[in-house]
Amino acid sequence: MISLQKQEVKREGFGTSLGVIAATLGSAVGLGNIWKFPYMTGENGGAAFIFVYLISTFLVGLPVMISEFIIGRRANRAAVGSFKKLAPGRPWYFTGIAGMVSAILIMAFYTTVAGWVFAYAFKAITGSLNVTDAESAKQAFNSLAGSVWTPLIWQWLVLALASTIIIGGVRGGIERITKTLLPILFVLLLVCDIRALTLSGASEGLKFLFQPDFSKITGVTVLMALGLSFFKLSVGVGTMTTYGSYIGKNESLPGTAVKVMFSDIIVSILAGIAIFPAVFSFGLEPESGPPLLFFTIPMVFNAMPLGQVFLALFFILTSIATIGAMLSLLEVPVSYLHEEKNWNRKTATAASALVIAALGSTATLSSSVLADFKLFDKSMFDLMDFMSSNILMPAAGIFIALFAGYKLGPRVVYDEATNRGRLANRFFVSIYLFIVRFIAPLAIIIVLLSGLGIIKL
Ligand code: PFF
Repeated sequence: MISLQKQEVKREGFGTSLGVIAATLGSAVGLGNIWKFPYMTGENGGAAFIFVYLISTFLVGLPVMISEFIIGRRANRAAVGSFKKLAPGRPWYFTGIAGMVSAILIMAFYTTVAGWVFAYAFKAITGSLNVTDAESAKQAFNSLAGSVWTPLIWQWLVLALASTIIIGGVRGGIERITKTLLPILFVLLLVCDIRALTLSGASEGLKFLFQPDFSKITGVTVLMALGLSFFKLSVGVGTMTTYGSYIGKNESLPGTAVKVMFSDIIVSILAGIAIFPAVFSFGLEPESGPPLLFFTIPMVFNAMPLGQVFLALFFILTSIATIGAMLSLLEVPVSYLHEEKNWNRKTATAASALVIAALGSTATLSSSVLADFKLFDKSMFDLMDFMSSNILMPAAGIFIALFAGYKLGPRVVYDEATNRGRLANRFFVSIYLFIVRFIAPLAIIIVLLSGLGIIKL
């Protein structure tokens, strides 16, 4: 008990309200918006998929995020420790452990894609990304992702960068960096949108994004959309529980979550607007899958004046976006080792980075030497993505919702979510409580079972 109190006095947190938004939004915004959202929308038929994704975000993603904030701030500990403290001696902390496994799996393939993005930024800056048509765009991508050492080295560099910032701590590392980078990201994205909207095929692209065709929706699509809403808002992993524990007592937890959710949706739509017009004007297939971003964007900027400059700006923007997300993912195992195992931050970071580098290399090599290596019919890259977004995160989401709704219960939830009655949001909090107690767990279970083919709807 004494050592626990000592630890809590020393514990670092975010310094300002702006810092809280920057760090949490910095975690939410990332490759999910610029890479995953567009290619999943492309593969699953466009606007109808976006519609299901939005519903999952309102009914599941947002309530789970608010729950994680409540759990983290109430316990004032990182993800696993929060459950241990609020439910001592009970197995609830396995939720935190499942989250940590997801964080490591996501980080493993996230750094692969972030490595490609940094490599593209570098190529664009040095003028060596010469793409003139769909064929040369595909070739440029395959020659990077399909080789062995170059993408590995980029992946390790990206991981080293995230690790260095994490060693800087919560305020001096995470908060300081995300506060500087986020505004730059928004401005660059708007610039790219303006360019994309002036392409000749822009209206086709916009139609695809905004005109739903509901015949495209199946049980699998709904599972994909649900997985994306977890991935997008960084929930079911323990990041938002950990960040919640760094949020000051005067901040509004539901308010922060709502702001993050809406801003994140806006960024995804802006990214879609930057990408889909190009897909249609250059005759690419919207179903190109994970490489979609790398095929389209070089072509968007290729033919315009100062195209190389904009191309470089876009990939710099995306590189920036990856950083806040990677920091939050890495913070999950680091804060666990630091707080639960008493390791110092440096050793905890180095150990986590090594595990991620080893696992992550297999994700990167899935595009080259490990291309034919399949487990459960999936490449290592796809398997890590599928396991985390479509199984572990939703499963953890069920327990997080139940934990807030029943184990903590209405009294504690009102207390935390209204800042002891000081915020005028009681009505909103009662809706939230109803959702986490009844709707979200049930919705996740049904979607999981039907997406996995266990039940037929
Ligand atoms: N939300 C991030 C993105 O959309 O790129 C990815 C992510 C970060 C997922 C942190 C999960 C997480 F815990």
